[in-house]
Amino acid sequence: MQSEFILRGHVLSYCTSPFAAPSPEDAVQISAAVAIAEGKITGTGSLEAMQEKLPRAEVIDHGSKLILAGFVDAHVHYPQTAIIASWGKRLIDWLNSYTFPEEMRFGDLGYASEIANRYLDLSAANGTTTVCSFATIHRESVDAFFTAAQERGQRVVAGKTCMDRNAPEGLRDTAQSAYDDSKALIERWHGVDRIDYAITPRFSPTSTPDQLAALGALWAEHPDCLMQTHLSEQLDEIEWVKSLFPQARDYLDTYEEFGLLGARGVYGHAIHLEERERHRLRDYGAALVHCPTSNTFIGSGLFDMDRLMAEGQRIGLATDTGGGSSFSMLRTMAAAYEIGQLRGRPLHAAELIWLATQGSAKALRLEDKIGNIAPGMEADLVVLDLASTPAIAQRADRAQDLWEAVFPTLMMGDDRAIAEVWINGQRL
Ligand code: GUN
Ligand code: ZN
Repeated sequence: MQSEFILRGHVLSYCTSPFAAPSPEDAVQISAAVAIAEGKITGTGSLEAMQEKLPRAEVIDHGSKLILAGFVDAHVHYPQTAIIASWGKRLIDWLNSYTFPEEMRFGDLGYASEIANRYLDLSAANGTTTVCSFATIHRESVDAFFTAAQERGQRVVAGKTCMDRNAPEGLRDTAQSAYDDSKALIERWHGVDRIDYAITPRFSPTSTPDQLAALGALWAEHPDCLMQTHLSEQLDEIEWVKSLFPQARDYLDTYEEFGLLGARGVYGHAIHLEERERHRLRDYGAALVHCPTSNTFIGSGLFDMDRLMAEGQRIGLATDTGGGSSFSMLRTMAAAYEIGQLRGRPLHAAELIWLATQGSAKALRLEDKIGNIAPGMEADLVVLDLASTPAIAQRADRAQDLWEAVFPTLMMGDDRAIAEVWINGQRL
């Protein structure tokens, strides 16, 4: 199989975070070509310089298309693929009405494999090359997902979702079985090929203190694993957490008390944070994951990007499929922009793309491997057509510069804008 390629186009790399640069555009470097060999990026620069590096490489000319690092979706539930866009409920009713009945089916390895493959097809068609997913309480749901990703050579993170209360019969484990099953899955999968395991308590309402403590102990035994969960998504959820854990200082404390706060912790939503929670999250360097289509779809609230970035939080971006209403990180960037507008802070295109690539890679502690186009990084790429529909093309046609040409695709683009996807140095 050919393993050396040079892609021509507008190759977008970040030198620094656009949130830290004097102007977001200063964070970006545009090159004419990117060279790929053996699944890795070997360089960026002029076509001639790349051809000098790789004289036998196949050259693929993408004209004026934009070549980015593949999108990194830092919080999804692949088992919710078939119930995305379910009408009319807020978080707790939505879980009970739609999510739990569907998740019940994932003890069947055949069904779990079908949905895992369907999910990975849909997300890749939208330019997503890495996801961090919740599975269900069933070991089979994790095996199915990792097997499907492994066959595609895809980098993924996932874990068995643990719940031992406030979930229906058939969807509950115990403190001990959650520990044992998660440990067995870590031993089988963590660090195999491009797969990492995330210890996954669903959220504190569905875990007893015993289960949270067992998973905290497991994390201490496997500190190189991520730990993912949900935090402060909806106001009535927060009230419920306070009633279930009356001694806790706040929602985050229900994790912190049991060893579930750390630098490799990934906390989905994080909308209604109290001051103590924000300080603790920042001090630990834990990751917050903004899920804007979910937050509007389920009616959760407006993530405070400006303030959280300014105080130095680590922030990623995610669809939260299927609480989120899309598989597309383009649609997700549009929703992040809209929430920014409602908060009085319009995010720049360079900031939105950074969140969907490097921001999420940093949230998953994978920024040395994915999320940017730079020598030594894994060759996961997406090629964006900036004129994929008549409506987008006519607006991009008026653009005075690259950013104005890109922005209509971020706001209005969908899978038609994804001209090509590369995973592990191979074109899909
Ligand atoms: N909180 C606990 N579980 C879930 C879930 O599956 N989706 C969302 N959006 N929030 C949750
Ligand atoms: Zn979620």
